[in-house]
Amino acid sequence: MSDRAPRRHSIRRRVLTFLIPSLLLLVLLGAWFSYFDAVNIAASSYDRSLLDPALDMAENVRIGADGPRLDMLAQAQEALLYDREDRLVFQIRDAQGSVIAGSPDLAAPPALAPGERVFFDGLYENEPVRIAAIRSDSGVYVQVGETLNKRKRLIGEMLAGDLIPTLMIAIGSIGLAWMGVSHGIAPLARVTSDLLGRSPRDLRPLDGSIAPTEIAPVVDAFNRLLSQLRESTAIQQRFLADAAHQLRTPLAGLQMHLELLLQRPLTADVRKEVEMMQSATLRASHLANQLLVLAKAEAGAIALAHPQEINLRSLAHQAVQEWVPRAIARDIDLGFELRDATVEGDPLLLGELLDNLIDNALRYTPSGGAVTVRCGYEGESACLSVEDSGSGIPIWAREKVFERFFRIEGSPGNGSGLGLAIVKEVVEQHGAALKLDTPGDVGTRISILFVSSSRRENTAAPG
Ligand SMILES: Nc1ncnc2c1ncn2[C@@H]1O[C@H](COP(=O)(O)OP(=O)(O)OP(=O)(O)O)[C@@H](O)[C@H]1O
Ligand SMILES: [Mg+2]
Repeated sequence: MSDRAPRRHSIRRRVLTFLIPSLLLLVLLGAWFSYFDAVNIAASSYDRSLLDPALDMAENVRIGADGPRLDMLAQAQEALLYDREDRLVFQIRDAQGSVIAGSPDLAAPPALAPGERVFFDGLYENEPVRIAAIRSDSGVYVQVGETLNKRKRLIGEMLAGDLIPTLMIAIGSIGLAWMGVSHGIAPLARVTSDLLGRSPRDLRPLDGSIAPTEIAPVVDAFNRLLSQLRESTAIQQRFLADAAHQLRTPLAGLQMHLELLLQRPLTADVRKEVEMMQSATLRASHLANQLLVLAKAEAGAIALAHPQEINLRSLAHQAVQEWVPRAIARDIDLGFELRDATVEGDPLLLGELLDNLIDNALRYTPSGGAVTVRCGYEGESACLSVEDSGSGIPIWAREKVFERFFRIEGSPGNGSGLGLAIVKEVVEQHGAALKLDTPGDVGTRISILFVSSSRRENTAAPG
């Protein structure tokens, strides 16, 4: 199998490979017609002036006792046959065809009736000439031959006069076709940037109105495929959400039974076993909860089609209040610096995002540490961050911690490894940016930067 990339077909190339030979053929056809036209015009304009010396000479032929003879002075003959560009020769033959004056090198003319005249092409001293031949009433043949210099010049000038504009029009048409193709396919760039600007989960249909009619069937087919993908993704997400939801109820029941069991008198080893079962059940129901949130976050794109205006300040304030008892229990100073900042989004998903960040900060910061939740504006963008003075996330793990089910080995607690995956999902759904760094020498800071709505509109509708 060859690894060569499949050959792409360029529309411009196809148009030009059709257009250039067609135009060339048309130019050649035009030149062919122009040539014959020019030959005819040259003949009709110069033949007339060739006839005059022939008629003059015929008038000066006298019939004497010894037959016909030309009665014209040599200077008069010279003046009659003078031309700036061409050489002229004449010949006079009697009725029997014998040359009686002029050059013998001209071939005999065709048979003519008295008074008849004719023009034809011939040779004089091996050079092509145009000949005017007449037969006078007395039966004498007079021929005047002329080389073709002025005729050739006239034909050349006429051809150039016709051909140069035609060639310019042809070259212009090729240039226009080149630009026309660029102009015609320009809307495709908008479709491309729409597709390139999307996240892999953005399965909204393409806006058909920005594509040219010619590629509308491709856009329609692509939108049909997107709609099938949307459906199958929705089915998968519904399945995950249903499964997680279904798991929660029996797990809650199991947990309640275990708690009741622990209130009874039990032997030490049985109590230990039941406590381990209770911890495993807690872990399982936490996992079911996180899976449910993740499924909701993945499905969030649909909810985000109608986003709400949310003040991060009130959202963060409420979340911090809920985590205060846990912070006190862990002897951690949970503080906040909250300023007004409005974003568009889904309040439930943003609540889950914040819960997961605060949960991590409290869980992975040792007692006596500090956690700070901040929100406000950074330039034009609304910003939300959670910072802690804990152990920090090593550089090698800073991308991996956002993967599903990833936990750094030895991390305390029985987390499911889904918290930061949920955070990343919610951030992507909101078209926001995620940053993980260390605020000082120790600890972790995770910040979310929301692109301002005006800037978002600009990116959503490029060009
Ligand atoms: N603030 C933090 N400080 C230190 N380590 C952290 C912090 N936040 C996350 N981590 C590390 O990243 C891993 C992934 O975090 P994530 O929130 O995704 O999962 P989890 O907390 O283990 O489980 P879950 O959140 O689903 O209960 C954690 O196991 C922990 O090792
Ligand atoms: Mg977590």
